[in-house]
Amino acid sequence: MVDMSEANKQKVAIVTGSSSGIGYATSLMLARKGFYTYASVRNISRSARLEYEANAEKLPLKLIQLDVTDVDSVKDALEKIVSEKGRIDVLVNNAGYGLFGAFEDISLDEIKAQYDTNVFGLIRTTQAVLPTMRKQKSGIIVNVSSINGQIAFPGISAYASTKFATEGLSESVAYELEPFGIKVVLIEPGPVGSNFMKGSVLPKTALDPRSPYSETETKLGK
Ligand SMILES: NC(=O)c1ccc[n+]([C@@H]2O[C@H](COP(=O)([O-])OP(=O)(O)OC[C@H]3O[C@@H](n4cnc5c(N)ncnc54)[C@H](OP(=O)(O)O)[C@@H]3O)[C@@H](O)[C@H]2O)c1
Repeated sequence: MVDMSEANKQKVAIVTGSSSGIGYATSLMLARKGFYTYASVRNISRSARLEYEANAEKLPLKLIQLDVTDVDSVKDALEKIVSEKGRIDVLVNNAGYGLFGAFEDISLDEIKAQYDTNVFGLIRTTQAVLPTMRKQKSGIIVNVSSINGQIAFPGISAYASTKFATEGLSESVAYELEPFGIKVVLIEPGPVGSNFMKGSVLPKTALDPRSPYSETETKLGK
């Protein structure tokens, strides 16, 4: 028998990286569909436009600070949501950026930073919501991967490997969570108009014309 009181509760969603692009649009879409949406941004000063748009439409959307690379920030945001709403129905792991350039040109620290956001960021938020979703026996985790989680080409080894990691992690965890009523969804977008290219990072040495990969990188439009 369906528990109507449970079914009638307003669903609660959280989206990471809502200051622009896919996260911005997804937060608005969820709020327009009636989800109480926590649009999370790592820098609250970059949320004015989203807040303005949500207020103008009187949407159930609240801005919240969350940097996926900062475990305390993730913990604080998730605890706040659970204390305010008592549930989390949807987590959209969207925050990410591209580190481009020839593999040999990229420093280990640059690769670590890429993984810290694109992979460990997703791991931090997902592990933080799971106890709540398991208790509810329901939930949807949406992981924004990329077409580059399926195919790679020169100059994107760091970025593509984070998205391949996202694919493997999502597939395995989906089986683990199924018995608890929690679904894992992978999104693999092709090119999307956003701030993605503006926010992407090139390794310092890739800008050096003496790099043995300079010609390839120029062809790839560095
Ligand atoms: N655009 C494409 O063609 C495309 C294609 C396939 C997949 N994707 C994926 O889609 C996702 C969203 O990208 P987008 O295209 O919407 O690019 P975008 O406009 O640059 O948005 C990226 C978002 O991630 C946020 N972010 C970055 N690091 C963060 C951190 N440490 N903590 C919290 N938020 C952080 C950014 O916040 P700030 O404003 O603070 O930088 C921004 O809100 C990414 O995972 C990307 O890999 C994009």
